[in-house]
Amino acid sequence: MSISMGEWVTLVLGSFPLLGLLLWWWNELWYVLPLKLRHSPTGAKLPPGHMGLPFLGEIFTFHWYFKIVRRPDDFINAKRAKYGDGVGMYRTHLFGSPTIIACFPGINKFVFQSDETFILDWPNVDIVGASSIVAVHGKSHTKVRSYVVSVINRPDALRRISQLVQPRMVAALESWALKGRVKGYHEARKVTFENIGKLFVSLEPGPLLDTIDNLFTGLVTGIRAHPLNIPGSAYRHALQCRKKLEDIFRVELEKKKTLKEGVTNDLMDGLMQIKDDEGNKLSDQEVLDNIVSLVVAGYASTSLSTMWTLYYLAKYPDVLQKLCEENMAIHENKTGEFIMYEDVLKMKYTNKVVEETIRLANIAAFVFRLATKEVEYKGYKIPKDWRVIVWVRYLHANSENFDDPMCFNPDRWNEPAKPGTYQVFGGGSRICAGNLLVKIQLAVFLHHLSVGYKWKLVNPDAEMIYLPHPLPVDKVDITFNKI
Ligand code: HEM
Repeated sequence: MSISMGEWVTLVLGSFPLLGLLLWWWNELWYVLPLKLRHSPTGAKLPPGHMGLPFLGEIFTFHWYFKIVRRPDDFINAKRAKYGDGVGMYRTHLFGSPTIIACFPGINKFVFQSDETFILDWPNVDIVGASSIVAVHGKSHTKVRSYVVSVINRPDALRRISQLVQPRMVAALESWALKGRVKGYHEARKVTFENIGKLFVSLEPGPLLDTIDNLFTGLVTGIRAHPLNIPGSAYRHALQCRKKLEDIFRVELEKKKTLKEGVTNDLMDGLMQIKDDEGNKLSDQEVLDNIVSLVVAGYASTSLSTMWTLYYLAKYPDVLQKLCEENMAIHENKTGEFIMYEDVLKMKYTNKVVEETIRLANIAAFVFRLATKEVEYKGYKIPKDWRVIVWVRYLHANSENFDDPMCFNPDRWNEPAKPGTYQVFGGGSRICAGNLLVKIQLAVFLHHLSVGYKWKLVNPDAEMIYLPHPLPVDKVDITFNKI
């Protein structure tokens, strides 16, 4: 019996809906069905949601909200509308893994506090270094973290750093005014990296620092790339950049060994010299790995938050006015060119502007964890080996947590945020190790900016991009002049 052409066409067309249904349900059958069939003694179930298409999961929906319609928070709003609130957990498949999204304070806290169950699992840790703070766990992490925090995030360190960064900030602002029109993002990156050079390894601007900057750009690109070590791949290029950076930093490290202790007093010195209670020091490799990871963690985050201060203050002149008043009062009473750490502690309004900038900018939108075992939270289970994405951005953009959340309003910080709703720096034992460092840098920058300069956005209605970080498309194009 032969099948006619017409019957073939009908068969093929008729199978499309079936094929579509199969694709739509494939991930649900593959990942969810076996878990549902397994009896749970407590009756816990998987969080609501949908696992999307095979391999791709919900990546198109994610891109739809983040790249096409540019309303990133509607990715979660759509889930809440479709599946209900529950406890703020949804199942999905994103970035190549079955995933639980956590977006309410309670579940976020649970994830952050259970750090043996939910481990930090950086992709391609070989690029930042196996003994870097972000690569180690348990006791090793506690040890490395205590060294790192001592040299960048304690009052003594902050006092010193607040002095070291000001000359380059002042020089940068003067150079912007001379140019008259600048891209805030590019200039913020430049001054941030100059300060990183000075703070980390006592390097002045010049060809070596430019080389290091380029190498870091290559290195960062490879962190989230597919780990394919073949010619031309971003991963291989990142490994090569890492190797060259390590060579450069090793030369600096060896130079320091021949100098008297504390001659340069930079972060590399700090990491080399600091001892724990038993007198143990970090090894050379630990110092190098942690210098690399601190630059990775601090470079983009500090540049972007500096850029956002320019943007928000241009958009909110009333805030700028109040900021100017507070800083002028300090400026008029100070003796030298630079402000002191103690001045910054007194700058109440400036510190609220810093907090509000970091809340609204949402530079780190998500925090990634890996579930090392199956756990339950309020009747829902998080399966072993699934990724957990703590969607911190949603906390800060949710009107249940912050009134009029998209408005830049430093005065909201007259009261502390509701518990668990402000997680810009993550939480638990992995909370950002540079949170005070970035705040002090922003505060001193705001001081010099507000007392000496005026600026305007060239495109006040510029569209936003949200990936990999939030940024106006024109990179904050501004006219910039002395007052
Ligand atoms: C506005 C700026 C910043 C934001 C929003 C931010 C955000 C974060 C977040 C959310 C985490 C937690 C990641 C996780 O748990 O997986 C983190 C960790 C970290 N951050 Fe920051 N960060 C900022 C600036 C900085 C700076 C300036 C430095 C240092 C130069 C720094 C160093 C670190 C380090 C070392 C960690 C890893 C801590 C650990 O694993 O123990 N960050 N940051």
